[in-house]
Amino acid sequence: MSNSLAVLNCSQVVTLSGARRPRTGGDLRQLAIIEDGGIFIRGDRIEGVGRRREIEQLCDVETEVIEAGRRVVMPGFVDAHTHPVFGGTRANEFEQRTAGSTYREIAARGGGIRATVRATRNASLNDLIKAGKRYGDWFLRCGTTTVEAKSGYGLTTEDELKILRAIKQLNEQTPLNYVPTFLGAHDIPFEYKSRRQTYVDLLIKEMLPRVAEEKLAEYCDVFCEEDVFTTDEAWQILSAARCHGLGLRVHADQLSLSGGAKLAAELNAATADHLEHTDADGIAALKAAKVQPVLLPGSVYALGSNKYPAAREMIDAGLALVLATDFNPGSSPTPSIAMVLSLACTQMKMTPAEAITATTINAAYSLDRGDEIGSLEKGKRADFVIHNVSDYRELPYWFGVEHPWRVYAGGKLAYARP
Ligand code: NIG
Ligand code: FE
Repeated sequence: MSNSLAVLNCSQVVTLSGARRPRTGGDLRQLAIIEDGGIFIRGDRIEGVGRRREIEQLCDVETEVIEAGRRVVMPGFVDAHTHPVFGGTRANEFEQRTAGSTYREIAARGGGIRATVRATRNASLNDLIKAGKRYGDWFLRCGTTTVEAKSGYGLTTEDELKILRAIKQLNEQTPLNYVPTFLGAHDIPFEYKSRRQTYVDLLIKEMLPRVAEEKLAEYCDVFCEEDVFTTDEAWQILSAARCHGLGLRVHADQLSLSGGAKLAAELNAATADHLEHTDADGIAALKAAKVQPVLLPGSVYALGSNKYPAAREMIDAGLALVLATDFNPGSSPTPSIAMVLSLACTQMKMTPAEAITATTINAAYSLDRGDEIGSLEKGKRADFVIHNVSDYRELPYWFGVEHPWRVYAGGKLAYARP
């Protein structure tokens, strides 16, 4: 049995092949498209990408052939910032915002992240896995094959470990790939409100060592914001995380210019995320330290704001931009990278090609997986999507439509449109 698969008759194979580094400047627009091409898969690996004839030559009698019917084939999306494990929903707060309440007002009266923390503490590991599978299916259906997944709705040692264990099991039990991030510093829990430093010490002395010992996370993230964790507190937590061998990510300058981008640069973090309020100095600091910005326009949209991050300035400054959903029950309840592509093009004036690079190869590099996923190249994991369009620019253009027709993760069919 040859265990091989060929996808033939694609109008475009959007390979994103190229230099083995995150893309910047004009390279963000180079998608390395093969017209009338195909791909050849053996086991979980890509063995060939090329013109129809080249792919046909690799086939034998046992090769399973998928007739793509002039559709577009692309790498699976890599969503580099999500919060996919939590209890409950916050549809009630969504309604309150329609009546004029703001995200911060709702948080100040005990809603927001703290409302989800209460629901998540009340959920069992199995409850979280069950809900996580539902959201995981949504990601796959939207063409995403890898998600970075943050904890952060437990805020006690056991509840944070429970979330990270749920992420681990979701990674093992479902076709979606999860890259775990410890976000115990997502908020100061209510019970530590007047003892902030005690919670910071708990994070550093108890939670981080347990997370590292059980190898439950690859990254550590902190929500750095005036009324959440100050830059000083974030510095303490992230420095400790680095000592445990974790990579660093930062929720930075989301609601105000609070110094998060500069802190990410100072600590040589992998990414600085959000950046709605980052100024020119912050952008220059990210550039000097080669920190990748992860922009999350879904959260700007869902909070009813129009303060989108300065994507064009960041591209002009030479940053290796990433776009992600920020999937979470509060500020960004969407698993759809297609929605993010649309927002990036219409609200941030990115081109469709730039937006696609930012959700595939650049996102893969931000998770230290640039050699494994994010492009269609020989040797990489066979994570790919056949979209029901004939030109890649149709993905952000037709908005509100789910385009994936077939989604493959590790060479196996993970979703098929009925
Ligand atoms: O990235 N900013 C902090 N964390 C999330 C929101 C989480 C929530 O509201 O539940 C974000 O927007
Ligand atoms: Fe977030």
